[in-house]
Amino acid sequence: MNRTRYVRTLLGVFVGVLVLLLTSGGNRAMAHKEKHLLFHGDGATEKKLGVTLSKTGMACAMCHPFGSDNHPYEFPKFQEQINKFATLRDMINWCIEKPNEGVKIDPDGDAMKALETYIYWSNKGSKLDPGRH
Ligand code: HEC
Repeated sequence: MNRTRYVRTLLGVFVGVLVLLLTSGGNRAMAHKEKHLLFHGDGATEKKLGVTLSKTGMACAMCHPFGSDNHPYEFPKFQEQINKFATLRDMINWCIEKPNEGVKIDPDGDAMKALETYIYWSNKGSKLDPGRH
């Protein structure tokens, strides 16, 4: 391999890695922003992710400021409202369907992960207390 070709190959790899780093950084920043936007009822973010979290005009944060009463550190636990042993994701969907009158979301989708992230993030430092009734 001659020298120019070697330099070109090296440059190509460098640019490739740079693009990869930049785009993954973008996704990370977006996920970080989305968790706040969704929890606070931003319509544009809901539309972008294809979800309807509420039809009452109430955002999660209005009833759960800073993730209060979400108790992520207690799950999984038995939940009377749905009469089953539930995960945090089950209860996020319960809240979307019942008090919010919205449309249940994909438990593995981006919107669920963003809401879950906000709830854990806003309760960080709490002691684990699983199974609490
Ligand atoms: C109109 C008020 C209201 C809104 C808006 C609301 N919630 Fe709730 N949420 C409640 C009530 C009431 C409960 C039941 C509290 C209980 O059983 O102790 C609850 C319970 C929960 C729980 C279960 C907590 C536990 O320990 O049992 C989660 C998780 C939750 N909500 C997430 C959300 C998310 C995410 C949103 C937004 C998509 C949301 N809520 C919007 C009122 C609301």
